[in-house]
Amino acid sequence: MRLSLLATVSALASSALAGSVTARWPEPCPIAPKVVIISMFDPEAGVWYGIPEFDVLAQNISVPGLSPIYPDVHCTADGEVCQVTTGESEINAAVTISSLVASPSFNFTSTYFFIAGIAGANPKVLTIGSVAFAKYAVQVALQYELDAREMPSNWTTGYVPLGSTSPGVYPQSIYGTEVFEVNDALRSLAIGFARTAVLNDSSTAVAYRALYNTTPSYAPATMPPSIVPCDVATSDVYYSGNLLSEAFDNTTYLYTNGSGIYCMTAQEDNASLAALLRGAKAGKVDFSRIIVMRAGSNFDRPHAGESDTDNLFYVHSGGFAPSVENVYLAGIKVVEGILDGWEETFQYGVKPTNYIGDIFGTLGGTPDFGPGGVFNDDPTAGQG
Ligand SMILES: *[C@@H]1O[C@H](CO)[C@@H](O)[C@H](O)[C@H]1NC(C)=O
Ligand SMILES: *[C@@H]1O[C@H](CO)[C@@H](O)[C@H](O)[C@H]1NC(C)=O
Ligand SMILES: *[C@@H]1O[C@H](CO)[C@@H](O)[C@H](O)[C@H]1NC(C)=O
Ligand SMILES: *[C@@H]1O[C@H](CO)[C@@H](O)[C@H](O)[C@H]1NC(C)=O
Ligand SMILES: *[C@@H]1O[C@H](CO)[C@@H](O)[C@H](O)[C@H]1NC(C)=O
Ligand SMILES: *[C@@H]1O[C@H](CO)[C@@H](O)[C@H](O)[C@H]1NC(C)=O
Ligand SMILES: *[C@@H]1O[C@H](CO)[C@@H](O)[C@H](O)[C@H]1NC(C)=O
Repeated sequence: MRLSLLATVSALASSALAGSVTARWPEPCPIAPKVVIISMFDPEAGVWYGIPEFDVLAQNISVPGLSPIYPDVHCTADGEVCQVTTGESEINAAVTISSLVASPSFNFTSTYFFIAGIAGANPKVLTIGSVAFAKYAVQVALQYELDAREMPSNWTTGYVPLGSTSPGVYPQSIYGTEVFEVNDALRSLAIGFARTAVLNDSSTAVAYRALYNTTPSYAPATMPPSIVPCDVATSDVYYSGNLLSEAFDNTTYLYTNGSGIYCMTAQEDNASLAALLRGAKAGKVDFSRIIVMRAGSNFDRPHAGESDTDNLFYVHSGGFAPSVENVYLAGIKVVEGILDGWEETFQYGVKPTNYIGDIFGTLGGTPDFGPGGVFNDDPTAGQG
């Protein structure tokens, strides 16, 4: 068990008073959180402050390499729960999480990393206000792109997977961050916890969802908010509209060999997962202890009769406030579930039953997507 710094200091103080001359000032014990909540920007972070369950503002630990606007990791006094804000988009997420994982102030070997943010929602799978738990995170815009006005007339999209020469053809050049897969057994437990939450909604969102009812495939968009297992696309470009959403839905399907269900789009998850994967490879984090949760704040494409620009810039769908609220309402159940079940279950970890890791098979095992693990036979392959 971790001796708190305060206890260490007072023990030292009393041994000094007792005349011990051999006592030396110890290195501060690293904080070993049970849960680290990863937020991407202020609205997602703010829902964890001033809540009745715990106070993550009790300790602020500044970590070199974090975002200049979010320089501190916030932790409860006992260090059991911490929260960090990455800043938005892939570069901010990757650098923040890499710096965090490398920080000597923490010991993350038993920590659950809980990505908890908002996202664009695919109306074919879920609605605004709903909360999705992903198994796959796919970097969909990691492709060639021609402006669609200059593309060959037989292309369906201006995006072409790297190393290929036509849209929809499996990429021939693999960078390694295309797809990440996280622990499905842990996801199922998290979904069970989240389903005990009563989700928030708004009357504006109720009215806005109803506008999607003229397109039969958008039936999921018209339902009240719920907890949904489905996957998240990552793209620095904040895309919107029917064609790009469909193109990246296709990319998700292609890159996950047909297993991924494209329902969320956001700007960070692959990058955070890439940093955690490298931390896992270095023995600093446990990649089987990652949960990716995103709540739908807006639709990725318009309803029938609405323009793409209206969907992107001008409509007030009423989804933002409930989505942020639901990050907390669903998320707190997940955090409490892990803390309450720590002794019995979570300290030991939840054994994954699926492949976990990246497209290279970096952590071992054989990916159920991608061209096959490049490190499976020769661990030095692909290096240098
Ligand atoms: C931690 O930082 C927050 C602001 O980000 C502040 O409100 C809080 O008081 C700080 N906590 C401590 C213990 O200084
Ligand atoms: C980190 O915590 C684990 C147990 O969770 C422990 O075995 C390990 O020694 C700790 N490492 C450091 C550097 O404190
Ligand atoms: C994020 O994931 C997507 C899909 O899994 C993948 O195409 C992309 O390369 C990943 N990006 C990063 C930076 O990991
Ligand atoms: C488009 O047409 C070109 C030229 O005929 C052909 O080489 C290519 O395979 C076609 N691409 C697709 C996606 O059908
Ligand atoms: C949603 O949350 C807002 C803000 O906390 C609150 O005013 C509203 O009553 C809640 N609505 C529902 C349906 O829970
Ligand atoms: C997505 O894939 C389907 C099936 O291959 C195809 O019909 C459709 O045109 C593709 N959409 C885009 C935007 O590429
Ligand atoms: C995924 O699909 C690609 C392209 O069809 C194929 O080459 C690869 O073997 C598939 N991977 C798995 C694990 O099935």
